[in-house]
Amino acid sequence: MIQTGILGTGRALPEKVVTNFDLEKLVDTSDKWITERTGIKERRQASPEETTSTLSAQAGRNALEMAGLSPLDLDLIICSTISPDMPLPSTASLIQRELGAGTCCAFDMAAACSGFLFGLTVADQFIKTGKAKYALVIGAELLSRYLDYQDRATCVIFGDGVAASVLGPVNTGAGILASEVHTNGTFADHLFIPAGGTARPASCETVQARDHFIKMRGNELFKVAVRSLEEVSARVLEQAGISPGEIDLFIPHQANQRITEAVRERLNIPVEKVYSNISRIGNTSSASIPICLDECVRSGRIKKGDLILMSAFGAGVTWGSVLIRW
Ligand code: UT7
Repeated sequence: MIQTGILGTGRALPEKVVTNFDLEKLVDTSDKWITERTGIKERRQASPEETTSTLSAQAGRNALEMAGLSPLDLDLIICSTISPDMPLPSTASLIQRELGAGTCCAFDMAAACSGFLFGLTVADQFIKTGKAKYALVIGAELLSRYLDYQDRATCVIFGDGVAASVLGPVNTGAGILASEVHTNGTFADHLFIPAGGTARPASCETVQARDHFIKMRGNELFKVAVRSLEEVSARVLEQAGISPGEIDLFIPHQANQRITEAVRERLNIPVEKVYSNISRIGNTSSASIPICLDECVRSGRIKKGDLILMSAFGAGVTWGSVLIRW
């Protein structure tokens, strides 16, 4: 059986930094509240010229360079995003064109904050079965374009960012050891954008009602997130016959530092084995885990042979976990 590993990683972050103090000027909030309730101090915001596909191509090039591969080596591009350049065509098509990746299979995946792990899981199936040799999986979000800067419950949480990983065959014993992904549509209205789709097409009325922006029931999501993350992480470890103590690094989706802390405690993983960049980057939905991954790889925090557990939770609701030996 072919094993799938990550051969290269890359990220692309907009330059503009938006601090909690900047947001204090827009909505009734404070640096103190945001820091204490979420752990976030600042986040990035894309310039009008930057799009999901342009940043994705940049992140993809960085990942391909690390892997020592060219865009034409790719057999598959999966772009996980809930903030595409436009409804049609897929952002993956635009990325493929921008990269010059020939005519390989390329599609978008909408699984919100869990999307990168959904992407890894799907690409793993392509590679394991020999349908693809090399795949580019991208987590890409420009959520600032979907944020209501009059809604303090959401605009302080989310940020922009993109990161990519190149997947390919690796030696037995390394690579993805176990993965599990889930969706529970019962909670679909906990985090959603009401208008702009077939249910409520764009109209003057939907724009005036600010219904093209993200709406979130944060409190309800919080409880489901902690429970789901704990359960799926424990199950993936069990599948691989690994105890929490054997993990070298736990990379949770950067939703809220309090969620990370609650899950860490329940799984009994020491603080020093948990990666967090939420204070600098905020919640970038599907880009959050691959951004962390790239930071860890490039800083030497991840070394060959390390066991990495990645777990995510997001709108849908979706959740999942992937265990990988580097
Ligand atoms: O990315 C994956 C999907 N997303 C999540 O998993 C998000 C999960 N949820 C959360 O992270 C948290 O629920 C939030 C950070 C969104 C909110 O924190 P919370 O501790 O659950 O706050 P809350 O919604 O219970 O609100 C507490 C109070 C309320 O005021 P009252 O009713 O007690 O007077 C809110 O109106 O805090 C108020 N509040 C704020 N105050 C200052 C809500 N947002 C803000 C704000 N600044 N930005």
